[in-house]
Amino acid sequence: VKGNAGSLRKYQILRQQGLMPSKQLPTALIIGVKKGGTRALLEFLRLHPAIRAAGSEVHFFDHHYIKGFHWYRHRMPPTLSTQITMEKTPSYFVTSEVPRRVQRMNPAMRLILVVRDPVTRAISDYTQVRSKRANMPKFEDLAFLNGSKIVDTTWVPLKIGVYARHLERWLQYFPLSQFLFVSGERLIVDPVAEITRVQDFLGLKRVICEKHFYFNATKGFPCLLKSEERPTPHCLGKNKGRSHPYIDPVAIQRLRDFYRPFNQRFYQLTGMDFGWLT
Ligand code: A3P
Repeated sequence: VKGNAGSLRKYQILRQQGLMPSKQLPTALIIGVKKGGTRALLEFLRLHPAIRAAGSEVHFFDHHYIKGFHWYRHRMPPTLSTQITMEKTPSYFVTSEVPRRVQRMNPAMRLILVVRDPVTRAISDYTQVRSKRANMPKFEDLAFLNGSKIVDTTWVPLKIGVYARHLERWLQYFPLSQFLFVSGERLIVDPVAEITRVQDFLGLKRVICEKHFYFNATKGFPCLLKSEERPTPHCLGKNKGRSHPYIDPVAIQRLRDFYRPFNQRFYQLTGMDFGWLT
């Protein structure tokens, strides 16, 4: 019993010094946006030995807030004091109560947002819903009111894409310097460039580099040569990188016109040009 007590004390000291892994609340979040490439970003970041992340979406700040910080911490993987704890839940970006709750927990939280052209994002979102539901109406019938040219701004796949509005809400609680905006488009064509920006933002050594990726021509996306979980080359699952249905180009142009002022405002707020203003 004495020996056990001694071991327990040693364990506690090592833990206090950060030399034994223990579960910690996240200090960085991927807050969105849904269908922006959030899974790809998280899986790529997990290649970094200083990053540990919860595997599935935790939904603490939107669905499970009532369960408290203790519950949240226990959803996290154990970390050493040199490691960063992260999680990604894309609905955080668009849920109104979330910024205030995050700020209450940690006003120094680092916030990562992956964005993608809101029109393509909406189509991707629709494609995902359609894959789970039979007899889904056409995209064009949902995006416009009763067969008119008027955009149905209440349709959730379109509402999510008004990034400027959501960001303005977050900016009431966090300074711009605590955000990193990742281009979902660039994450596909040049994953290393975007991952390098994230590593710099998190103050980490640039460990994730070209040697971790290969381009899988069949999938049409960058994939991983190996990861902690799998030692062989692999891509993200079939539900990432689905082919999208044909959408009437006139409808697409109308949606581009609708989003233009919001995109311009988003560029203004972030100081970045994402290349969607066609
Ligand atoms: P599509 O399925 O519409 O192509 P999220 O993980 O946030 O749900 O985002 C899904 C999107 O991530 C996919 O949308 C895909 O375009 C994008 N993505 C980015 N990098 C990817 C990668 N390496 N493999 C698969 N999908 C990737």
